[in-house]
Amino acid sequence: MSNSELSKLLLDWYQDHGRDLPWRVKGGAHPDPYIVFVSEIMLQQTTVATVIPYFQKFIRRFPTIFELAAANLDEIYQYWQGLGYYSRARSLHATAQIIADKFAGEFPQNKEQILKLKGIGPYTAASLLALGYNLPETVIDGNVIRVICRLYHLDQPTEKIMPQIKKLAKGLSSKERPADYASAIMDLGAVICTPKKPQCPVCPWHESCLSQGKAEIEQIPCRHKPPKVEKNGFVYLITDQNGSIFIRKRIEKGLLSGLWEFPWSSEKELFPAAVDSGLKVSHIFTHIKLTLNIRCLQNNALPDSGLFVAPEDLCSYPFSTLMKKVWKKAGSVLFTRGKTLQ
Ligand code: ADE
Repeated sequence: MSNSELSKLLLDWYQDHGRDLPWRVKGGAHPDPYIVFVSEIMLQQTTVATVIPYFQKFIRRFPTIFELAAANLDEIYQYWQGLGYYSRARSLHATAQIIADKFAGEFPQNKEQILKLKGIGPYTAASLLALGYNLPETVIDGNVIRVICRLYHLDQPTEKIMPQIKKLAKGLSSKERPADYASAIMDLGAVICTPKKPQCPVCPWHESCLSQGKAEIEQIPCRHKPPKVEKNGFVYLITDQNGSIFIRKRIEKGLLSGLWEFPWSSEKELFPAAVDSGLKVSHIFTHIKLTLNIRCLQNNALPDSGLFVAPEDLCSYPFSTLMKKVWKKAGSVLFTRGKTLQ
């Protein structure tokens, strides 16, 4: 079957079976590339199911690039709480400011210029141009890699064969309907050509797929994931005489920057006088599994730059998922006041 026949089969399948997602319109480019921009940044490293409610609330509060550009970064963090990878929120804000101020709110439709913007790599640039402007760009994410590797039965490690994957993906992309095609191939990977138990009998490419029916299909694509590094540390719940808890803001750089936290460290004990609560939390970052032992300390002096906050007011500050886990685990045991952090 020719590439254009395969492409047509996929587009027909998408018309009937493509997902209705809040950032998507079927039948061409999204009329508002800002919508594509926000959704694509949120979808980096995060699943569609997780992103949907965040995206909806975010767009309600920041309906255009101008509202986003004018917003305070702390407020953007509030809307990002729980999504993780907070550098994305900073890049989103910085890029919105550039587009609003220097490009009158319109994204440049040129890949070189788009790639100069913060937080936009080759994948996001291609999806912005294809999904937001219907330009003939080939979008290659994890779903697309899986579909292509299976269709052509490419079982070598993907890192070694990326040029081949890109070439084959490009050959299949529709020049007439790039926006629908990009959404369609992502949906095929997400809904039919899933990592486990792919639904081959209902796949529009089933007749041409060189992997369908083969026992090893779930092993394609072949990836070498680096093992997670295990790290341990301590997190400190420091209270003053009023039962308020010490929190501080992380610096605007690196892991979890700009969010609020209870003091913690994976390198050294920060407060040797603190007492172990016997409670611990674990959290997985991209390559690290971090386990923090929760320690408690009564100390009226401010340990560092930060502030004491009443437990019931903690919910006014943006915390990372890691810190919310700490509060969830220890808050109800060690404190009688305060709410769950949303
Ligand atoms: N993953 C990344 N971008 C996506 C999109 N626009 N639709 C569905 N899944 C995606």
